[in-house]
Amino acid sequence: MTMVTKENRFKLALAAAAMRSHCIKYLAGAVLICLQAPAPACAQVLQPDAFSAQLAPRERVLIDSAWRFHQGDPADAGNSLAYEVRSGGAWTEGQPEEWTPRGPDVKVGGGGLKAWILPTGNAFIKDEKQRHVRPQGHPGGGVSFVQSDFDDGGWRALDLPHDWAIEGPFLKDGPYSNIGRLKSWGAVWYRKALDIPAQDRGKSIFLDVDGAMSYATVWLNGKLVGGWPFGYSSWRVDLTPYVILGGKNQLVLRLDNPVDSSRWYSGSGIYRHVWLTKTSPLHVAHWGTHIRTPKVSKEVATVALEVTVDNRGHAPAVARVATEIYALDAEGKRQGAAVASIAGAALNVQANGSATVTGEAAIGSPRLWGPAPEQRAQRYVAVTTVSSKGQAVDRYETRFGIRSLRFDPDQGLFVNDVPVRLKGVNLHHDLGALGAAFNYRAAERQLEVMLEMGFNALRLSHNPPAPEVLELCDRMGILVIDEIFDAWERKKTNFDSHLLFKDWHEQDLRAMIRRDRNHPSVIMWSVGNEVLEQTTERGAEIAKMLVDISHQEDPGRPATAGKHLARAEDPLTGVFDTIGINYRGAGMRSIPAQYPTYRAKFPDKLIYGSETVSTLSSRGEYMFPVPGGYFGHQIRPGIGGDFERHHVSAYELFATDPGVTPDRQFATDDQNPYVAGEFVWTGWDYLGEPTPFKEARSSYFGIVDLAGFKKDRFYLYQSRWRADLPFAHILPHWTWPDRVGQVTPVHVFSSGDEAELFVNGKSLGRIAKVTARSPYEYRFRWDYVKYEPGEVAVVVYKDKKEWARSAVQTAGAAARLAASPDRERIRADGKDLSFVSVSVTDKEGRLSPRAANRVRFSIDGPGEIVATDNGDQTNMEPFQAHDRQAFNGQVLVIVRGKPGQPGKITVRAEAGGLAPAAATILAQ
Ligand code: GAL
Repeated sequence: MTMVTKENRFKLALAAAAMRSHCIKYLAGAVLICLQAPAPACAQVLQPDAFSAQLAPRERVLIDSAWRFHQGDPADAGNSLAYEVRSGGAWTEGQPEEWTPRGPDVKVGGGGLKAWILPTGNAFIKDEKQRHVRPQGHPGGGVSFVQSDFDDGGWRALDLPHDWAIEGPFLKDGPYSNIGRLKSWGAVWYRKALDIPAQDRGKSIFLDVDGAMSYATVWLNGKLVGGWPFGYSSWRVDLTPYVILGGKNQLVLRLDNPVDSSRWYSGSGIYRHVWLTKTSPLHVAHWGTHIRTPKVSKEVATVALEVTVDNRGHAPAVARVATEIYALDAEGKRQGAAVASIAGAALNVQANGSATVTGEAAIGSPRLWGPAPEQRAQRYVAVTTVSSKGQAVDRYETRFGIRSLRFDPDQGLFVNDVPVRLKGVNLHHDLGALGAAFNYRAAERQLEVMLEMGFNALRLSHNPPAPEVLELCDRMGILVIDEIFDAWERKKTNFDSHLLFKDWHEQDLRAMIRRDRNHPSVIMWSVGNEVLEQTTERGAEIAKMLVDISHQEDPGRPATAGKHLARAEDPLTGVFDTIGINYRGAGMRSIPAQYPTYRAKFPDKLIYGSETVSTLSSRGEYMFPVPGGYFGHQIRPGIGGDFERHHVSAYELFATDPGVTPDRQFATDDQNPYVAGEFVWTGWDYLGEPTPFKEARSSYFGIVDLAGFKKDRFYLYQSRWRADLPFAHILPHWTWPDRVGQVTPVHVFSSGDEAELFVNGKSLGRIAKVTARSPYEYRFRWDYVKYEPGEVAVVVYKDKKEWARSAVQTAGAAARLAASPDRERIRADGKDLSFVSVSVTDKEGRLSPRAANRVRFSIDGPGEIVATDNGDQTNMEPFQAHDRQAFNGQVLVIVRGKPGQPGKITVRAEAGGLAPAAATILAQ
């Protein structure tokens, strides 16, 4: 760990600058340089040192392209490459399972490569005595796949990010565990040749991996470099000692994702970006900056910066560390001149050591960061220059935002002193048909759809995301709970991260916080989700340990966790700074709402719903009879569930056994206004955890389905979270040839307060959503409507004035396809995507709500079809297929431009007997 010494503070170094600048202020004992933007005179004085005009020597190169991939170990590897020797706990494919707690425990023996891997995490172990000493030798060096001259020409050529498991096929016999029906376990290899020029002599050369699932081991030129087992962490290994300068370097990674290691689809492979970072030996440490904004007002904000400098050189060095701060525009580009500077401070850094320096600046009239839509997500960048002997040796950029957070137990969260209700969702990391392989546009699309619904907060269940997700949240103004563990010492599945917890919890947690702490979007660190130690003393001990780490790494944000089975009086509850409650806040069938119990016991802590509802549905599936009430009905044969087709009714009245409906959750929140808000389980359907039908491939929890088509529930949330948006959404569809004369309840989700329903022009009465007798109602419902073909229409009122109207008509025979791309222009970079929705309609363009036509896709021009999907949880066709059955009238095709090939891409959709459709996308 590094030391912050008084001598190292910027105070002294600023003295000289003070002589030159009238803008220097002294605040709370620290020296601040204040530039009221625009302030040309000050900017003049505080221009960086002359040497910083030179090119910064740091290089960060994306090395995603031209990898070779192979599944399975070579015969000559034997068992020699295992992380550690484990026995027992085996899971037999295809056996029924109970996930918690289950199966005999895995026994861990010695041996394996663990002793060589552990030192990779040393920079994240605070107590130097606990750091790991690397044993001699280079295990694995003799294995054929590791060797530089191994001929990998027969291996598959591909680019990263890559998730090999998404390619399937779906495992049909089962049931399988909640990890899902895509096989994601087993050893795989990635190789890439790197040219490292002779000019890099003397540089430090690092491999930065944003995420590899999982148990990664890295060799360079046959030498074992290190690795990292937890698949959700980002990590770095130092390649420097093994590099061949001026020649070819063979990089080899082996991953070994265990069977039965997750309660959801983990994906498998190097599923995030990989970088080569080259620095001078004296450089800003890995994630070595920390920016906080301890004082924020409209007039002035204090920016507190901490910079850790590493010296990989053989001699002590004096580093001069200077930072300039610039405003960023909405796209993240630097705007204009520096708005503040922190002048150079001299820092002594021992050979092979690190040192930390702190400083502060004040920014006048700061452009604050705050959540959309009420506030603006404005950002800054701090550009830190490290120099030595008059030479700039490193330049490092830290993006950040200026904002204050207040966690008020009575009124909830305040951002910049403005109250903000948490209108949140949980998301797992997979991107539907694209699997876990990270794609910026796919992640952005997920968030755009959620923003359209009115959400403002994201809980990253249950693990740290790709770094770009936080960049997106910073840019889009989304608040984030960054979460790390789904299990501590007790397992939820036999081979989950409980096996790593003892050796790695500190490194994983510190790595997450150091990586993510400068993002203004992040508001809390969640150190656990529903861990099974919740009710025990040991649970409180572990919680304390994790909360302490969180406070050491970032005193500015609360540490939290999501609790479910636990009660307020459990020893661990009070350890957290804020209290996240999964489900029990709203109660269960036999258990009353728990929020008041927690409130009574912890009146000084902010309480929020870390997971709520677990409502289930299949888009466009409506089942009869429809039960009354809103609590959240259990799915039983004939009630809400189709146990043959494995679907759940979309009336949005059904939930898991501990879950409730959105309506019930809204009522609980309204009755307990001190609750800061909720994070719905979940925003999107995800792969795996197909409750309640284990036969399926993907979950039923999403507000939108796996393909991104909105379920009805979307509009229920929109009616609450965007109460000012006039709209009315009617369910179900109105094409029921087999229900003529039968009771077919009509529900309307709308932001209005009264509504009148018409069937074929005949009024069924005007009703108020809320009445004196039932003050907590969130939908309009007419439960005794008898179906007759034609039109069902609604007129909605707010404050007695017409607010919105909507109608659904009976569709005629399916006649044609309609295609609509989410974006008509994409970048021709081989990454950017257009998501093209295709609907089956009648000849007037009305959706055919039960259509299941097989739609075939073809493409012309410089583009390719990446995947297709229809959001049907039971659909086992491979995502890569170019044809797919529509599910309830809708199907999706995902299109990508070819790198460096601009031009017009035409996607065609055809289905037997229907008029085809085409969409045009311009790749630029
Ligand atoms: C919670 C859990 C989530 C998910 C959800 C499904 O208990 O934290 O990961 O499993 O239940 O209802």
